[in-house]
Amino acid sequence: MNAFTTLAAAFVIGALAVVGFAYSGLYDVSARSPHSAPIDWLLSTTSHASVARRAKDVAVPNLDNDDLILAGANDFDAMCIGCHGAPGKEPTALARGLNPPAPDLAESVEFMTPAELFWVTKHGIKMTGMPAWGATHKDDELWPVVALMMALPTLDAPAYQALLRSAGGAGHAAPGHHEPPSVAEPTIEAKEHGHAHHAH
Ligand code: HEC
Repeated sequence: MNAFTTLAAAFVIGALAVVGFAYSGLYDVSARSPHSAPIDWLLSTTSHASVARRAKDVAVPNLDNDDLILAGANDFDAMCIGCHGAPGKEPTALARGLNPPAPDLAESVEFMTPAELFWVTKHGIKMTGMPAWGATHKDDELWPVVALMMALPTLDAPAYQALLRSAGGAGHAAPGHHEPPSVAEPTIEAKEHGHAHHAH
């Protein structure tokens, strides 16, 4: 055998082994068993690189906008905290059973850009519990949630509750919902007080 046939034979045997393994049932799909270190590396590296690459095309509106943060509070509370938690809230049973776990978003915003946060919120992440909220929501409904996420590091439990109280009917998930403010035109008031909730 020359080098090429040896290589081709090795490839076929390798491919058959992968297919055989898939059919064998040996792999443990249980959410209770952790990934091995190499698989964990492969999945998280692939995921982070994929998000970073795709988020480059996202046009980020001005998020230093208190109206936007308020508009995102009810929706964040209704759609996200069951898995991700919120300041002062115990993790739910749902959150405790997830593998991979849903990260604490107050920590995620420290190393993810607003464009990346938006991209993940809109498109979700395959084979994890993270849903694609863009399947059912317009961009204008998701940017307020991103603005709220960015404010999380500055919110303790009482401040989070106070924000929910002042959010009133803002956000589509709120009772008596009204439309979110346009992300393109922050109000005069929001411009003046824009940095109040924000770490940056
Ligand atoms: C059903 C559970 C679930 C819900 C509800 C959910 N998420 Fe997630 N989310 C996850 C999981 C699980 C991950 C981790 C995915 C991974 O490991 O790649 C995640 C990851 C993320 C990330 C990336 C964080 C990081 O550090 O990499 C962001 C941002 C995010 N979610 C935002 C949201 C927002 C905003 C909402 C509400 C609109 C939401 N999620 C609702 C399960 C959920």
